[in-house]
Amino acid sequence: METHVIGKRLAVLLQPGDVIALIGNLGSGKTVFAQGICAGLDVTDYVTSPSFTLLQIYRGRHLVYHYDFYRIKSPSEVEDLDVVENLSGSAISLIEWPEIGQMFLPSDSFKVHIDRIEEDRKIVENKRRIKISAFRNRGLSEIKL
Ligand SMILES: Nc1ncnc2c1ncn2[C@@H]1O[C@H](COP(=O)(O)OP(=O)(O)OP(=O)(O)O)[C@@H](O)[C@H]1O
Ligand SMILES: [Mg+2]
Repeated sequence: METHVIGKRLAVLLQPGDVIALIGNLGSGKTVFAQGICAGLDVTDYVTSPSFTLLQIYRGRHLVYHYDFYRIKSPSEVEDLDVVENLSGSAISLIEWPEIGQMFLPSDSFKVHIDRIEEDRKIVENKRRIKISAFRNRGLSEIKL
């Protein structure tokens, strides 16, 4: 699936300490994208949605912290997950529903926007628009993969 393939391609560019915000509506494909990144980082464990556990930790070529803030109601609960400390460490962090923890994300985080596509005002089930951006050379630039 394209979402998985692009996640896997992004993994090639990632370095320890990178933070990836996965932004998109319910069921847009954030977890699939995270699975693609993990596959690209040689994680062999099965990567599942961390919406109940809030955090799943994997080890591939690098340590991977996979968060999902969907069920979190306040920024202080985000802090309780030691997010500030963890995001400044050497793990690669993937964050679904990052909005509530926005203020704790480094300004140079990668942003992945995943949207469903509408044609004739109907959602096309098997298509997604995926836009990746990051601050590079002092400016926000789009990454084409
Ligand atoms: N490019 C794609 N084409 C077709 N289906 C896709 C594509 N990307 C993702 N999907 C499908 O979308 C569904 C939802 O994916 P996923 O669970 O990754 O979404 P999510 O954004 O993590 O959802 P949630 O908001 O619940 O965390 C899955 O059935 C997945 O297979
Ligand atoms: Mg998900």
